[in-house]
Amino acid sequence: MLELIITKAQKGSRPNITLPHPGILEFLKEDGIRNLISDHYDRIKSSSIRDLFPPDDVIFEAAKKNSADFFVQIMGGPIHYSQNRGNPMLVRRHNPFKITLEARNVWLGIYQELLPELGLPEELMLSLWNYLDQFSIWMINSEGRSARFSTIIY
Ligand code: HEM
Repeated sequence: MLELIITKAQKGSRPNITLPHPGILEFLKEDGIRNLISDHYDRIKSSSIRDLFPPDDVIFEAAKKNSADFFVQIMGGPIHYSQNRGNPMLVRRHNPFKITLEARNVWLGIYQELLPELGLPEELMLSLWNYLDQFSIWMINSEGRSARFSTIIY
């Protein structure tokens, strides 16, 4: 079975990025991509990085939609993201949130579980995985452990 490996990362590293293959959108359709992002966000809710995301359900769902719009757009679908949010500037948009190596591992770990369930041909699954694995390195903006674990342990 194909293994999806989380590349060891360092804060400040900016590896070159290849966008996910457009065949992913053809295979999953827009709904399939939206479901994937929705499942990812829903699993975040019961993960250790939950506190980075909006606590309010309505705002959480809006955040989920923005993310899904982005992924649909970069895979060649409708450009709702740009229409609603403008230029992605994702590094800048992630800056207010404390994203550590560990937060990236948790965030990616959820995709590591979800991608093999999609039934994508191997080449397409790897294309999506490599994009997430590499681009997520760009979002790391903080040293140390995630906010949730940085409290004193009694
Ligand atoms: C490294 C792990 C990552 C973490 C912990 C993380 C966390 C977050 C957080 C906390 C938000 C803001 C939610 C809100 O309050 O609206 C967000 C938004 C977003 N993230 Fe990430 N993110 C990560 C990586 C990525 C990557 C690799 C991508 C793209 C491939 C991405 C795409 C987005 C998009 C499109 C948004 C919505 C931006 C907008 O509001 O316009 N994230 N992320």
